[in-house]
Amino acid sequence: VKGFKAYSGNEASVLNYIISKFLKLSKLHGFKTVHLPLVEEVELYLRTSGEASDVCNKELFEVHRYGDKSRGWVLRPEGTAGCMQMVKEQSLMQDNHELRLAYHGPMFRYNRPQAGRYRQFSQLGWEYIGVSDYHSDFEVIKACVDFLKDLNIDFEIEINSICDSNDRKNYRKELKEFYNLDDSQDPLKVLDKAENFDNVPKMKINEKDRNHFEGLKVLLEKSGIKFTINPFLVRGLDYYNSTVFEFKSKLRESQGSLLGGGRYDYLMEQIGGKHTPAIGFSIGLERLLLEFNQEIENDLVVIASLDAPDFALKVADDLRKEGTACVIWKGTDLSKILKKAVSSKIKRVAIAGEKEEKAGKVVWKELSF
Ligand code: HAM
Repeated sequence: VKGFKAYSGNEASVLNYIISKFLKLSKLHGFKTVHLPLVEEVELYLRTSGEASDVCNKELFEVHRYGDKSRGWVLRPEGTAGCMQMVKEQSLMQDNHELRLAYHGPMFRYNRPQAGRYRQFSQLGWEYIGVSDYHSDFEVIKACVDFLKDLNIDFEIEINSICDSNDRKNYRKELKEFYNLDDSQDPLKVLDKAENFDNVPKMKINEKDRNHFEGLKVLLEKSGIKFTINPFLVRGLDYYNSTVFEFKSKLRESQGSLLGGGRYDYLMEQIGGKHTPAIGFSIGLERLLLEFNQEIENDLVVIASLDAPDFALKVADDLRKEGTACVIWKGTDLSKILKKAVSSKIKRVAIAGEKEEKAGKVVWKELSF
């Protein structure tokens, strides 16, 4: 199906590598991985991402119940709303002041597929819930910086403050006049898609959000993190307020957003819960795949069983006490086995044949490529 891809070989190894790095990063920062459902009520996204957002307006995959064609369930287009829904339903904030949640998995958006844009794609995300201080904004942005640097991926950071809903209401009015829009169009969505910003009015920032934003900027500058302030970065989802950010590719302009995030202090109220400030981000896994050009080490040891299969099994078991190992069964032609190992980037091969069994030890071949 168009926009749905299968990954194998090196691409699959890279995806696994990135996910394992993300799990490690999350653990290091005390973020616990949760598992969220793929299907939610459409209402959840209408209330949070907003009816006018592309995600809700034209990109939702609907799931029909048997015999009932009415709108009801959808495949999740993103993870933040589902995460907060879980926090509410399971009362996770009842005994906690702060929650650090991580997730990864497929999201679905019915958009036109192109390089870097798919209908099924995966996100790696953090939701840092119950925190309102700008230090928490800094923590998540810094974690993203560390993560991409660790993967040797180049990026540019854009940040902005989109203040509170009152400021945005005024800003919408200004933009509506500027673009001469009718009531059916959301001015912020028009701005989100704009390419030319000549004379476009900028949002006026209130004092509270200005102080918050200034605090974040100082922290970023102090830690040497380079960023640009993009006053027109409004993000495509409605639930954001105050700080928003995006990390962009230096290699590609089209579909160049590697990750996006921001504050969503009012989302919990939008779904009927108590006021709960929060900030988070999601990384597009397949977008990182397009940027990644590091060699992944294959630490698997293969054992050429040759003519002593029982011995090879025992050797494999012993090796697995300290690392990864598997026995190759097909073929007794050692040179073919070594060739195949080289093409799979395997560095070590243990030869375990009859001769080695008699001698009581395996022979090692170290391969280079
Ligand atoms: P988003 O900006 O809609 O934010 O998506 C985050 C990332 O997902 C994008 O930067 C991009 O890398 C990737 N992505 C989005 N759509 C596609 C697609 N069709 N194909 C491939 N990759 C895609 C969110 O989803 C928010 N939930 C982020 C967030 C978390 N905000 C707070 N917490």
